[in-house]
Amino acid sequence: MDKKIIIANWKSHKNTSDAENFINYFSQNVNRINLDNKKIIIAPSFQLLMTCKNLIEKFNLPISLSSQNVSAFGEGPFTGEVNALQVKEMAEYVIIGHSERRTLLNENDEVLSKKVIEAKKSNLKIIYCIQNSSQKIPNGVEIVAYEPPTAIGSGNPDEPTHIESVFEEVRKRFDGKILYGGSVDEQNVRNFIYINHCAGLLVGGASLEPESFMSLISQW
Ligand code: PGA
Repeated sequence: MDKKIIIANWKSHKNTSDAENFINYFSQNVNRINLDNKKIIIAPSFQLLMTCKNLIEKFNLPISLSSQNVSAFGEGPFTGEVNALQVKEMAEYVIIGHSERRTLLNENDEVLSKKVIEAKKSNLKIIYCIQNSSQKIPNGVEIVAYEPPTAIGSGNPDEPTHIESVFEEVRKRFDGKILYGGSVDEQNVRNFIYINHCAGLLVGGASLEPESFMSLISQW
């Protein structure tokens, strides 16, 4: 059976002790939920990745890590950038094309394609975010997350019937896994579970508290 993918996108939240508390809580409570049918991926900020990696290894937890971004350049004189090889030391996945980066940091299709190429060179698995059914999906992407901007952080998720129609469109040109993201929480998660083609969820705000995130996970 294909495992459902649930990604915790922590965005620009948490310091080191917050991340430690989250992973510690998870390890103490992991036996209470069935993870056999799920793949859990946590996407913290870069500076928390190593802390999370060490703790996940220490407790032998079934959690994978993703970065939230990667440089469009390789190694070299690119001040402030974290390149794909560096990410690969800490994480297995990378999120590329999140709506917040497209809008606030002006990341366009050209930059995003470069990031995908760099990520592929370092064998990172790519979680590629799209805002609608027609947005470009570069070659080499494994996972697509459909996240309509109006649903992100608004408490107003997209309608399951509309999500399904977007997934149908995406499916015509992409045969990897398709996730939904945007205001998913422990109260509404069950609305998204039965959507055709839905391989999982990308969760922002509701992934920050370990207790409610684990409750969300446990419902799938
Ligand atoms: P949200 O964010 O769950 O807080 O709406 C989702 C995302 O942006 O990945």
